[in-house]
Amino acid sequence: MIIILDFGSQYTYLIVKSVQQLNVSCKVMPYDIPISEILEIKPEAIIFSGSPYSVLDDKAPLCDERIFELGIPILGICYGMQLICHLLDGRVVHSLKKEFGYVELIVDEQHELFEGLKTGDIVWMSHSDKIEKVPIDFETFSSTVNTPFVAMQNKAKKIYAVQFHPEVSHTEKGLFIFKNFLYSICGLKPNWTPISFIEKASKEIKEKVGDAGVVLGLSGGVDSSVTAALLDKVIGDKLIPILVDTGLMRKNEIAEIQQIFENMGIHINVIYAKDVFLKQLKGVTDPEEKRKIIGRLFIEIFEKEALKFDNVQFLAQGTLYPDVIESSSSKTKDGPSVTIKSHHNVGGLPEKLNLKLIEPLRELFKYEVRVIGKELGLSDEILFRHPFPGPGLAVRIIGDITEEKVALLQEIDFIFIDELRKNYYYDRIWQAFAVLLPVQTVGVMGDDRTYENVCALRAVNSLDGMTADWTKIPYKILRRVSNRIINEVNGVNRVVYDISSKPPSTIEWE
Ligand code: XMP
Repeated sequence: MIIILDFGSQYTYLIVKSVQQLNVSCKVMPYDIPISEILEIKPEAIIFSGSPYSVLDDKAPLCDERIFELGIPILGICYGMQLICHLLDGRVVHSLKKEFGYVELIVDEQHELFEGLKTGDIVWMSHSDKIEKVPIDFETFSSTVNTPFVAMQNKAKKIYAVQFHPEVSHTEKGLFIFKNFLYSICGLKPNWTPISFIEKASKEIKEKVGDAGVVLGLSGGVDSSVTAALLDKVIGDKLIPILVDTGLMRKNEIAEIQQIFENMGIHINVIYAKDVFLKQLKGVTDPEEKRKIIGRLFIEIFEKEALKFDNVQFLAQGTLYPDVIESSSSKTKDGPSVTIKSHHNVGGLPEKLNLKLIEPLRELFKYEVRVIGKELGLSDEILFRHPFPGPGLAVRIIGDITEEKVALLQEIDFIFIDELRKNYYYDRIWQAFAVLLPVQTVGVMGDDRTYENVCALRAVNSLDGMTADWTKIPYKILRRVSNRIINEVNGVNRVVYDISSKPPSTIEWE
């Protein structure tokens, strides 16, 4: 296990992805983690992320200097490299010249960290400060036309650093850097497999939970289903899976999920709470407020249900790594990576929760969760279901939510998905859904003027939900979907297709 110290970079998740791609297990920790905690984890290596800060800022996130004395190999990236210089006896200064974007590397001397890289290779830079002097006992071995010190090492202390970002795909041979560092320098083996993950997670769950019961909220999506299968394997009937019918699920969804779990031999408890949800959401238009209300209601229900069983102490959630980073403002002093949305399963929890949280998939990306789900014997039907957000259709009805609007959106969404399936296109898309807009427009049907709702269709392709591109669904399918929606759903006279990518848009509209 290695740890990645997060100094607030927007690319920390890409470091995780690179390390996981090499089948090495890792954990992201805040930059100011106490040394005692690092010693407890016993990481085999530490990577310092980049940061939006300058090491010269008053508020710069700094780690404990004693980290350099632990004998654990360190790789600093961008800010990470400047921090090593700053904390040891090097010198970092503000520079008028920013180095941003694609740059050609000059390899001055060949070293283990750069095995496979050569002069002329393209790397991606993003820094404005400049290293003027590297610490004593460090040797440098690479530069660019603008930057004299692009890579440095202190072999005896096993401290290495690069100024560019090997984790972003623009750095063509970025993975070589991680591979050289992890395999050659640290001597790690690529031994993360779904089985090793399941074994490790099972051990951790057993240790944490003991004989206590665990309540788990199911959403019908792959994350909560894999969490259910994992917990079912480890704690059996101490698991209490709960499916809340919020009234904000897709058409027929409750029955479908019940059936899928029954087929897996897992009994689930369905709580019918549609009226409460719709009542509390009445008149609420602000998306964050909607999320908070829904998050609170979920927790109230889980806590109430927990009391019906003996010794329930935990609430399990299918939180994944992208949920964690998109909901956190990192742990730097002012939270440099801002909160985009408070995903209900992480950001929307009340201050005081009577149950302890357990999130066994917290370090994983969706593609890894699917691999683990497969290993646990889940069917493709559940593993390749499009992701569905915890707050359900509430984030897809823009403006206030009413029962009528939910019913309308369920019908629209059903037709869209139905056509994608019939045309064998569903599996080629990461996520597809419809959105109901608080806009009415003029149309003409027969000889009559209509003044009805507009709906939007959204379909995206993505690897992990962090970035996404809109899907180029063939016109033939889009035309059929649009015709069917306008003809079959009363109350809609216009269908539009969303052609924005993430970023700058997000996947859900809210
Ligand atoms: P955004 O809209 O943030 O969505 O680009 C990224 C992915 O996350 C899903 N999503 C959620 N999943 N609880 C969840 O379990 C939530 O509150 C939530 N909000 C968004 C979204 O559907 C997409 O797959």
